[in-house]
Amino acid sequence: MIIAAAGSGERMGLDRNKVLLPLHGIPILIRSVAAFAVHPWVEECVITVRAEDYAAVQALLEQWRVKNCKLAVGGPRRQDSVAAGLAVLAPDLDWVLIHDAARPLVEPEIIDGAYKAVQEHQAVGVAVPVKDTIKLVDEGQFVADTPPRSKLWAVQTPQAFNSRLIREAYARAARENWEVTDDCSLVERLGVKVKLIPGSYTNIKITTVEDLDVAAAILSKRSEGGLMHNTAVRTGIGYDVHRLVSGRPLILGGAAVDYHLGLDGHSDADVAVHALMDALLGAAGLGDIGRHFPDTDPRYKGISSIKLLEAVKAKLDERGFAVGNVDLVIAAERPKLSGYIEQMRGNLAAALELAPDRVNIKATTTEGLGFCGRGEGIAAWAAAVVIGPSLNAGD
Ligand code: CTP
Ligand code: MG
Repeated sequence: MIIAAAGSGERMGLDRNKVLLPLHGIPILIRSVAAFAVHPWVEECVITVRAEDYAAVQALLEQWRVKNCKLAVGGPRRQDSVAAGLAVLAPDLDWVLIHDAARPLVEPEIIDGAYKAVQEHQAVGVAVPVKDTIKLVDEGQFVADTPPRSKLWAVQTPQAFNSRLIREAYARAARENWEVTDDCSLVERLGVKVKLIPGSYTNIKITTVEDLDVAAAILSKRSEGGLMHNTAVRTGIGYDVHRLVSGRPLILGGAAVDYHLGLDGHSDADVAVHALMDALLGAAGLGDIGRHFPDTDPRYKGISSIKLLEAVKAKLDERGFAVGNVDLVIAAERPKLSGYIEQMRGNLAAALELAPDRVNIKATTTEGLGFCGRGEGIAAWAAAVVIGPSLNAGD
């Protein structure tokens, strides 16, 4: 199959190709590739990429452990890219599926449907009835014609073809300078009938910035909450203790807590945030805070731990991990923390770019027992769930 990803995403208006953007933490291109990876009959996958995106795409495939995909440098028009993909695809395959990387939400039933239908019809597109009335306009943008809506279908991808047929269509297109915006059109121009089968209204093409919000909403609504088959849910725990001393402010969860003692430490000694960072790093398999922010490093002296938490979040982002939810327990005999919990929650949620309902903080005393109970220090535990790449994990 061919995944067309060599566009520039001009209508998105951003500084990089839209297919590299994350959607619920997972790049659009990776979602599109992974959608097909579960289908055992997909023998070979070629991704068309722009020369300037080549290294970035290679890095993403490695990061998400996508194996067995070849890259082909695309051309100026989509059809040039697909032609370049066909040139790299094994010549002896029976069927060729072509899909736009910009349609990451394609459902498995649609892919299966296209694969089954192509064996009967030789050329298949997936499509949905248009909802809007469509006008044909002239150069002055005056209406020239209104085709009956009942006969109009919006064509999506994947489109599936007999391999010989699509190769012939592309060869003719090159010889005779045909210009098209989808692959079915080429086969139509050969005079071969193309069958349309039902696509879905959620198989949207991400084209403008609004589409990112629509796609995110569709993913949220899906039962898996935006997870894919090659995504792993991972958990981590963190624990930290700091001593209470005089002459230091008490900072917990980024909030300045009114108390005559404060926590001792190299940074602001925010024990709750430290436990949380360890939980996040743990879930992502990235060690602990000591490794990333050694307390021998003068850069971290007196630093707000919230800043370090943001740095941890950035490390997770870099590796394709999205935070699911976090939960903390702070054990302090005194002072009473209940009045600060919401503020702490807001601070942590902001640093992690999470909705506050994904951050939970509990405070407890230890009934006078142990160092917490004697008021010598404060302890914190944190648990975190992160969602990250796991395709072919263990390979
Ligand atoms: N595509 C391609 N080669 C091109 C142009 C487009 O492989 N020369 C791919 C895109 O990456 C996309 C798909 O074809 O996945 C559909 O194209 P479109 O949605 O138009 O994407 P872009 O061309 O990137 O966007 P724009 O037209 O807004 O620049
Ligand atoms: Mg385009």
